[in-house]
Amino acid sequence: MIPMVIEVVRIGQRIVRDDRVTTHIALVARAFGATTILMNEVNLEIKETLEKISDTWGGNFSIEFFDSWKPIIRKKKENGFKVVHLTMYGENINEIQSNLKKEENLLIVVGAEKVPREIFKFADYNVGIGCQPHSEISALAILLDRIQDGNQFNKIFLNAKRKIIPTKKGKNVVMNETRD
Ligand SMILES: C[S@@+](CC[C@H](N)C(=O)[O-])C[C@H]1O[C@@H](n2cnc3c(N)ncnc32)[C@H](O)[C@@H]1O
Repeated sequence: MIPMVIEVVRIGQRIVRDDRVTTHIALVARAFGATTILMNEVNLEIKETLEKISDTWGGNFSIEFFDSWKPIIRKKKENGFKVVHLTMYGENINEIQSNLKKEENLLIVVGAEKVPREIFKFADYNVGIGCQPHSEISALAILLDRIQDGNQFNKIFLNAKRKIIPTKKGKNVVMNETRD
């Protein structure tokens, strides 16, 4: 079994410096099968970038903004989501991935700078993608892959303007004539 709904929360952002990283977090979340990203830095450019990507390449990925992380995480927990906090201090992914796969709905928390200490308590799982510091983008990608066993790459992104036909050499892109 793999989780049905996966959402991602990005907590904290060092303005300008983190814009590109946050955009990449959102791109990975979308391409690796999450349905939503929630962010506490209102950055309309990131939203526009993701909306353009979805318009061209399909799917219903949504971007939501929030002021304060606590009520968001509380509400998601009340609605049956298990909170997975990505941190190098957490339990090793190799040990915990089979438990994560049994959960129905997951809310994945990724930090920018140091995350508030309380998140460690709020989380149902604190998960380390190894215990060396690296990047929230790679941590998110590896977690999403481990919990979905690669099935995210078979997902169909509906209503796309363009669709790639995987090919050995060159580029094969099919245009959807029903889209303008
Ligand atoms: C700049 S790092 C901060 C590293 C931080 N000391 C920590 O707790 O992981 C920003 C984010 O990257 C993610 N991250 C970095 N290395 C990780 C690892 N080995 N395992 C899981 N997440 C990691 C975490 O979500 C962290 O909040």
